[in-house]
Amino acid sequence: MANRSKGTIGILTGGGDCPGLNAVIRAVVRRAEQLGYKVLGVKDGWKGMLKADAEPLTADSTSEILTRGGTILGTSRTNPLKKEEDKKTLLANLGSMGIDFLIAVGGEDTLGVARQLAKENVKVVGVPKTIDNDVEGTDQTFGFDTAVMIVTEAIDRLQTTAESHHRVMVVEVMGRHAGWISIVSGLAGGAHCILIPEESKTLDEICQVIKGRHARGHRYSIVVASEGFQLKGQDALVTKDKELDAFGHVLLGGIGERLAKLIEKQTGFETRSTVLGHTQRGGSPTAFDRVLGTRYGVKAVDLIEEGKLGHMVCLRGNQITSIPLVEAMTKLKLVDEEWIRLAEIFKG
Ligand code: F6P
Repeated sequence: MANRSKGTIGILTGGGDCPGLNAVIRAVVRRAEQLGYKVLGVKDGWKGMLKADAEPLTADSTSEILTRGGTILGTSRTNPLKKEEDKKTLLANLGSMGIDFLIAVGGEDTLGVARQLAKENVKVVGVPKTIDNDVEGTDQTFGFDTAVMIVTEAIDRLQTTAESHHRVMVVEVMGRHAGWISIVSGLAGGAHCILIPEESKTLDEICQVIKGRHARGHRYSIVVASEGFQLKGQDALVTKDKELDAFGHVLLGGIGERLAKLIEKQTGFETRSTVLGHTQRGGSPTAFDRVLGTRYGVKAVDLIEEGKLGHMVCLRGNQITSIPLVEAMTKLKLVDEEWIRLAEIFKG
């Protein structure tokens, strides 16, 4: 380790948590210490920056967190740029907390704030996280692989009970705008119908798939639906309530139950729904997410060392590299035609 500190790196985790965040934190601290930086862990995402709430992190204090889900730093959906006075507080606190460089680990909202701050000359680096895998600019976010594993296991389990009772099972999974969890775990679990936000369908189209299976002698069906799926002709998303969070998102939920009722009514087949909800974000990360988080964490510190600020670390093929935040966050990464075609091939 170097004798003199090269400066202090603040790290925060914002937005919905996901497995692998602790792997990033551990890697950032380990690499930073090796290169001669100190690390300050900012509590609860951007909220900690507004309250100047942080604690020093060391390689020893973070040595046993690799396998743990969630984030030891806590998280929040605080938007520090919503009010001008909050932005001023944040910028002032960066100075008073002695943070020279900031690593923001988050999804579209957290990284959107990081991008804005980079424009204000804050020395910030982004790390893409989210189970939704919808961050443009990286092939994969960490957390996604774990969520897919959890959903696939749930589909496997639902399959045996659906088969015994000759039922249709609708599995509602997370995915507000992007259907990555649905499509990948639906394919992995052999679902018979996959419904994603990118592609609305009519109730008739869905029921035809199910009726077709039953007509061929199969007595159960599995439907996987993203929470953001919309039936064709319905212009409103199914939501838990109408309130918006600090980034303007409404809390989705309920499409599974709605579909189950409609499918049962139209097909006459007994139908149940299961909402996997936050189980998809909980628990220990897969080996893939632990290693991806570790590689991202090391790269984030390397970017600071190289002076490549205002960048987001990313995965391209098998390589960890980086992309300017302004280029990364222009739109959401949605499920593309190739995946939709694949799901079509295995429909029914
Ligand atoms: O972080 C993304 C996400 O998991 C979405 O898929 C989901 O819509 C949302 O978070 C749920 O948010 P909350 O944790 O606030 O209930």
